[in-house]
Parts: sequence; C-alpha cells; structure tokens
Amino acid sequence: MKLWGGRFTKETNQLVHNFNASISYDQRFYKQDIEGSIAHVTMLAKQGILSSEDRFTIVNALKGILDDIENGTLHISEEYEDIHSFVEATLIERIGDAGKRLHTGRSRNDQVALDMRLYTREEVKQVDGLLVNLLNVILRIMEENLTTYMPGFTHLQKAQPVTVAHHFGAYFEMFRRDRSRLSDIYKRMNYCPLGAGALAGTTYPLDRDYTAELLHFEGATLNSMDSVSDRDYLIEFLSAMSTIMMHLSRFSEEIIIWNSNEYRFVELDDAYSTGSSIMPQKKNPDIAELVRGKTGRVYGALMSLLTTMKGLPLAYNKDMQEDKELTFDAIDTVKGCIALFTGMIDTMKFNPDIMEASAKNGFTNATDAADYLVNHGVPFRDAHGIVGQLVLFCIDKGIALDDMTLDEFKAISPVFEEDIYEAISLKTCVEKRLTKGAPSKKAMSEACKVCREYLDTTPAM
Ligand code: ARG
Repeated sequence: MKLWGGRFTKETNQLVHNFNASISYDQRFYKQDIEGSIAHVTMLAKQGILSSEDRFTIVNALKGILDDIENGTLHISEEYEDIHSFVEATLIERIGDAGKRLHTGRSRNDQVALDMRLYTREEVKQVDGLLVNLLNVILRIMEENLTTYMPGFTHLQKAQPVTVAHHFGAYFEMFRRDRSRLSDIYKRMNYCPLGAGALAGTTYPLDRDYTAELLHFEGATLNSMDSVSDRDYLIEFLSAMSTIMMHLSRFSEEIIIWNSNEYRFVELDDAYSTGSSIMPQKKNPDIAELVRGKTGRVYGALMSLLTTMKGLPLAYNKDMQEDKELTFDAIDTVKGCIALFTGMIDTMKFNPDIMEASAKNGFTNATDAADYLVNHGVPFRDAHGIVGQLVLFCIDKGIALDDMTLDEFKAISPVFEEDIYEAISLKTCVEKRLTKGAPSKKAMSEACKVCREYLDTTPAM
C-alpha cells in the first residue's frame, strides 16, 4: 500500500521497491513518528484546520497504534515504503476518513526531518549520560591513585614520572570536552522543522511555534527549504561521536600496552577479557581492541554523510535517506563502546609496584637532575649536557641515576652534593611539580575537586 499511487498506472517493480524502501531501518523511530503526528493534529485542530472530533479520533488511534507496536500485537510490515506510510496506512485502516486527514499541511519531507531530529535529540542525551558514567569511574580512579607513580611518556619513551591520577585526569578533560560538544549540538539542533511542508511551507494557517512547543523544541526553524534539507546537526553529531571514539581509541591503545606481558601496569578483569582457542595461557584485551577497531566505523559514517550531502541541490533529495543507517550504526557503536569501556576500566586492577619500578628506571628523573644543577647556578644548557654524561655513564654500567655514588656524580660535576639523591627521588620528581595541572598530589587533589564539582553541577542532559 502506497501513499502516492494516484498518478501511477503500473505497479512498482519489486526490486525498485526494495531499493527505495527505508522501513527496514526507519521503523526505529516509530515512536517519534507517532509523537510528531499527535503534535501535528493537535495544532491543526487548534487552528481550526481539523475538527476537534477528528483530532480526538486520530490522537486516540495513534496512541493505540503506539501501544500495539510496543506490546507486540501490531507488527511493522516491511511491505510499506517507510515508517511514515505504515503508521498512516494503519491509522486509515483503523479509523477510515478521519485518518485520511492526518497528513493535511504536511509532507514526508518535513515529517522525516522532524522524526530524525526527535530521535537524534534523545540519543544525544543518552550518549551524554554514558559519558557521565565514564567520567565518574575515571574520577574515582583519580581520587584513589593520587600517589600511584608511573612513567609519563613522549614518543612512547619514558619521559618524566606522573601518577595514575594525572594520566587519567587527561582523559577526564577529553570526555568533559566531548560532553560540552554534545550540549552545543543539542542547542543548535533543537528547532522544529515540521510545517516546512515539501519545501515551501503550506497554504494552511499552521501555527508552527505551537507545534514546536508541544514537542519541547526551543522554537520553529526559520526557513522551510533549509528545514527539509538540513543535515548539519547529524554531521556535527557524527563528528562529536568520532571525537569520542578517537579518545576511547587512544585510551584503549594505552590499556592494551599497559596490559601487555611486557608492561603489566594493569590487569584486566576476567569478565572483560577473552581467551585463545589454541594458546591456553592467553588473556586478551579484545574489548579494548574492538573499541579501537570500531572507531574506523564511526569515522566512516561521518565521511559518508559529508560525501552524501556534498553537492546536493536544495531542497529534499532522496540521497538524504542515506543519513539514517549510518547514523543509527554510529549511535549503536558509540553507546556500546562507551558502556563497555566504562565497565572495563571500572574492574581493571593496577599494579602500583610495577608502575613505580618502571617510573624509577628509564631516567625519568634526568630533567630533575638538570634542574638541580640549575638551582646551583649552572646554566640550563650546560646542565643538560652534564646530565647527558651521567646518563651515558649509567647506561654503560646498567644502573639508574639514583644508584650512582656521590663520587661518581662529582667526577662528572663537582656541583653535586649529598642532597642530589633527595632531589631526584621519584617522590620529589612528582611532588615538586606543583603548578596547576601538574601531577603532584597537591595539584591533582585540587584538580579532582574541580572535576567533582563539575560532575555535581553538570548532570546528564
Ligand atoms: N524515507 C524517506 C527519507 O528517509 C522519507 C522522505 C520521503 N520523501 C520523499 N519525497 N520521497 O528520506
């Protein structure tokens, strides 16, 4: 059954129907479609375009359709072209003529624009809620690990010592920015396109602001052509989701490295690891790897939609139907990844002794040895050279800077005194870094307070 059979004399070719139809995936927003239709007829009746009896009959029948879909008594038949056709046809089947008045002053072009926006608006909130859970776990780990020392890396080479709190704090910032991007997108997208008609509005005296209000939008969109052809909000959302995945992927990569036999900084919980079918000893970080892998898929959705939209003339074109599958897939992927990643790090155990031992070798205190010389009047460039010699000496002997005797220090520079040991101890290296944003317990406790306050004052959307 079609909404547009009138001007056709032949049946649609079956392959054409299959190729054209979107119902296999747009049935996902049946609820939003019905919600939008209820708002539409409510507005039509208020404007005197529809009788209040018809409104009553239609609204009741739409609610019945919604209930029946939800309790499983009404099956969404894929013989229809899309969810809009299915709902309208079912309505007409149930209430006859009144149902035929539903589509007054509306086109599927503004209808689908509305449904997708309503659906996505809800999903933006859900992704935000999942990020809040993730941030809570990250902050818990930070608060518990203010003095769990570990090496900080550049070029994946040990650089300077930091703490687990500090390292995780970096991710807290990333996911906090991700939330702020979602909130910006939500504000920009929260305008109602319904009433734009096919592209040029309608001749009925619609009250678009009223429809917008009924559907809890900030207002109605201003230009009807833009209303039916704007997919910017999806591109922004896909871009924000790509950024979330990029962050999760970096984090996953680190966890894979930390969980490796060579590092053993962390151990993933059995419940979040998998085994090998042949090698009995294996415990693999598959979840982290899958999160890293699925990142490509979300980037793909962004590139795909950008490419689909490129060069499309105004206003609606069927190309835009392609926005759905890829957006739905990206949403499912991102939601799954955030939730699993959160569970994975929530149950992960740290090996503080191994991390600390690792921070102690690899000359992560070389900068501090140079700073010691600077504090004793040696110009930094000279200090850098002197410590370079110390490092060479240690590499040769297979020892750490801390293992050198005072005589050995003095042989390279007479400036060194007994207090060098204290100055380059792991604890000093971390705890003397007191500036805002630095790893010392003092600075990170302050940062944790700010993070805690942020979570308390910025609940999920
Ligand atoms: N399934 C279509 C889509 O998702 C609905 C809009 C159809 N409009 C049209 N003019 N054919 O874009």
